[in-house]
Amino acid sequence: MVLKFSEILQAIEGGYRPSKEEILLLLSAEESQMNDLQDAADRVRRKFVGDEIHLRGIVEFSNFCIQNCWYCGLRQENRQVDRYRMTADEIVDVAGRAKSRGLKTIVLQSGEDPWFTRERMSEIISRVKKSTGLAVTLSLGERPEEDYRAWKRKGADRYLLKFETSSQSLFERLRPGRKISDRLNSLKILKKAGYEVGSGNIIGLPGQTPEDLANDVKFSLDYDFDMIGVGPFIPHPQTPLGRSSPGMLTQALGILALTRILTRDTNLPATTSLSVLNPEARRRALQAGANVLMPDVTPWVYRQHYQIYPGKAQAKLEEDELTELIFRLGRKIGRGPGSRKS
Ligand code: 5AD
Ligand code: SF4
Repeated sequence: MVLKFSEILQAIEGGYRPSKEEILLLLSAEESQMNDLQDAADRVRRKFVGDEIHLRGIVEFSNFCIQNCWYCGLRQENRQVDRYRMTADEIVDVAGRAKSRGLKTIVLQSGEDPWFTRERMSEIISRVKKSTGLAVTLSLGERPEEDYRAWKRKGADRYLLKFETSSQSLFERLRPGRKISDRLNSLKILKKAGYEVGSGNIIGLPGQTPEDLANDVKFSLDYDFDMIGVGPFIPHPQTPLGRSSPGMLTQALGILALTRILTRDTNLPATTSLSVLNPEARRRALQAGANVLMPDVTPWVYRQHYQIYPGKAQAKLEEDELTELIFRLGRKIGRGPGSRKS
């Protein structure tokens, strides 16, 4: 039997797991159907994770990176970046400020920077954890298993590692020298080591097909991530993809909505890259399944140099602006650490 859009939508809202063909059909929705998809995602969000929006303060503490991802402005071969590393004292200080402003989670993010060895990172995590008690999320790229385990012992709670794309050929073309199997293996190890694992994908990468995107959605669902960041591709002029077109907003919102409906209780951020495409997109994401916002707590002197894609520093909202948005939507600020299922 050939099912139509509205029938599949109703079925997945009720818990049915769609086939890849059905996902493809849902993602090729026209405008009015797209609104139905987003409304369904909003209902599922309310039912499974409620009205709380969790705030994660993110500190981008080093923009050094040894990788050369074709899409990213921090790639090693981009010589125009002013590289910086924050000191351990600065990082601990920023975490303390985040706590005093009421945030419950601090995300420590950097490029892949080996200067932050297992030992150096361990010390930073211990100090942040001891002085703030905040939930600590790490986003440091692929590292050896022993690093992940050591940092978990020091008190890290969560790890963010996007799979970026589930297409092996696209992944390996856009991330020279890296293998998708290693990435997926890291994700497995992180889960086994006891982290809450966040991942996600980029929408609209050059060469990506609708089928690739349907596979991404299925992959996220099968893996059962605790957090999934869905963001559109934004071309950075100082990269090999600088002249490519950006990802499409409706497509990114559609995938976010579908991810909410299918995963039920996963934490889904309204990503900054969405709001680079359109200033209204953050609000729309929060009404299409998202329940997490990530205010930037990186000191201003550094923030402008963490340019993964252009417009990022400008698109980030200060906490008070985010708070206003949350109230305007009739939602609440999360009062706990906002772990999945807590
Ligand atoms: N557009 C959108 N997202 C990007 N990222 C990197 N470069 C881009 C870009 N040009 C995302 C990747 C990476 C995270 C740090 O930022 O998903 O994991
Ligand atoms: Fe480095 Fe991450 Fe950018 Fe790739 S996406 S170049 S690993 S910071």
